Amino acid sequence: MDEADRYSRIRFPEDRARALVARGMLRTILAAQSGIPPAGLAFHYSPKGKPTLAPVHKINLPFSVSHSGDWALIGVGGAGRVGVDIERLRPFRKLSAIADRYFAPREITLLHQVDEASRLRTFFSLWTAKEAFVKALGGGISHGFHTFTVLTDNQGQPAVSDVDGSEAEGARWTIWSGEPTPGYLASVAIDLPAARVVPHIWTGSDGEQPWCLQGSNPARSVDKR
Ligand SMILES: CC(C)(COP(=O)(O)OP(=O)(O)OC[C@H]1O[C@@H](n2cnc3c(N)ncnc32)[C@H](O)[C@@H]1OP(=O)(O)O)[C@@H](O)C(=O)NCCC(=O)NCCS
Repeated sequence: MDEADRYSRIRFPEDRARALVARGMLRTILAAQSGIPPAGLAFHYSPKGKPTLAPVHKINLPFSVSHSGDWALIGVGGAGRVGVDIERLRPFRKLSAIADRYFAPREITLLHQVDEASRLRTFFSLWTAKEAFVKALGGGISHGFHTFTVLTDNQGQPAVSDVDGSEAEGARWTIWSGEPTPGYLASVAIDLPAARVVPHIWTGSDGEQPWCLQGSNPARSVDKR
């Protein structure tokens, strides 16, 4: 399915417009990183839906995209796989049911340990970190969300504690988590230990390269559409 078909299938015009703007921003960012003009970039999709640059480009430029409300989060990896997720902090009546279904046992314990006031934020920290991790691997909904554990430290920063019971495997990963704008939580997962994440807000109107990434380490940009 080509890009035009893919986006014409989005039912609501507002959602379609948001998705198109995010894709345009992704093309702009990847063009600057790769030296290929935005319109010349072709995408390939894995069987589970993970987009990458098409093999014809012969470039390994890991990236990941997430949308929530008026925001899109685009992560571009300098090295290593990258996954991102952004979610609007919103009341969640089924929080416990979702956690019981998708979270690993120690994540559920953590959620029960935190006080009521912090529970929603902790839930979204774990959720976005888990989604980002799964998206870095390229897994979709079928990925076993309970097969790896994410825990938060006392500053609320998540880290992968184990993958299939292996702490060494968990330690290979960096999770960066933050609040790019009030009311939204975002996480970035990179399969490198102690990777540097450089966040940027892109308004699209702050000069020639307002989103420009500093340094060559895995980085992230946060974009207001
Ligand atoms: C599809 C999925 C990768 C993310 O979906 P989502 O959170 O609804 O949507 P997001 O906006 O964060 O991500 C969508 C983007 O992910 C990318 N994507 C799609 N499938 C992907 C995959 N298998 N791997 C990595 N990235 C993928 C695409 O770039 C897509 O945007 P685009 O079509 O505009 O390019 C997947 O994780 C999923 O189905 N999750 C279900 C949510 C859930 O139940 N989570 C349990 C709580 S822990």
